[in-house]
Amino acid sequence: MKHKSLYVHGYDTKENIRLQDQASTLVELLHSDTSYPANSRVLEAGCGVGAQTVTLAKNSPHARITSVDISEASVAEAKGKVEAAGFANVSFQQADIFHLPFKPGSFDHVFVCFVLEHLSKPVEALLLLKELISPGGTITVIEGDHGSANFHPDSEAAHRAIQCQVELQRRAGGNANIGRELYPLLCSAGYSPVRVSPRMVYADSSRPELVDGFTKKTFTAMIEGVRQSAILAGLTDASLFDQGVRDLYRTAEGDGVFCYTFFKAVGEKK
Ligand SMILES: C[S@@+](CC[C@H](N)C(=O)[O-])C[C@H]1O[C@@H](n2cnc3c(N)ncnc32)[C@H](O)[C@@H]1O
Repeated sequence: MKHKSLYVHGYDTKENIRLQDQASTLVELLHSDTSYPANSRVLEAGCGVGAQTVTLAKNSPHARITSVDISEASVAEAKGKVEAAGFANVSFQQADIFHLPFKPGSFDHVFVCFVLEHLSKPVEALLLLKELISPGGTITVIEGDHGSANFHPDSEAAHRAIQCQVELQRRAGGNANIGRELYPLLCSAGYSPVRVSPRMVYADSSRPELVDGFTKKTFTAMIEGVRQSAILAGLTDASLFDQGVRDLYRTAEGDGVFCYTFFKAVGEKK
């Protein structure tokens, strides 16, 4: 697949499980204020394996959702997941955000989660998506920001391991620190007004589900996943990287703390 090398996390089973862990841990934090009215037409752009789609379908049971992704295999998996969960309000299509097969004004709302961070031209994508939204409609964009990761015990090696992921994503044309830029990006694409709310995940041992679901299985698993690419790219050596990953897991122990901020933006199309 031509696009595969551009998507830094890849499409293997481990990554799909990680995306699912991420989505289940973060459902309340990221989705609690998103539900679309009955009969509204919603486009989910970059649905991946459907990790967010199931929640969208559940929280907006009478909206008509169309979910697309550039990866045909991911779309098939998302479809299976939504059907298995018993929702019939989503249709699926393989499509590229930069060449979407829909007429202007085809949707009332667009939802994009963890996708802009992988695109080299995020404003262009936002402009194209804006064309598809009917006047008065909205776009909701959710992105992370790896620069927001803070933890105790602090560790230079852990920050360097995270930086490997940031650099690999940059080389693939993306931006792992894009969360902080959502306001200017949406404004540049002409959405108005734009409202951004930062959503911090805070995990300590009094919140074992977040320590397990987020610190270990989402964030550290993601950093661990770039080990080989980071070493091959000459960004680190094995022992420094492994120390960084051990230090990230160390933050999941009894006295450890891990914080990460996601950014959720809602912009209106005039
Ligand atoms: C990190 S995944 C996020 C998937 C899902 N939104 C979620 O939150 O679990 C990013 C997704 O964006 C998709 N993607 C990347 N570039 C795309 C493009 N140009 N058009 C459509 N999808 C794209 C990838 O195939 C991948 O499934």
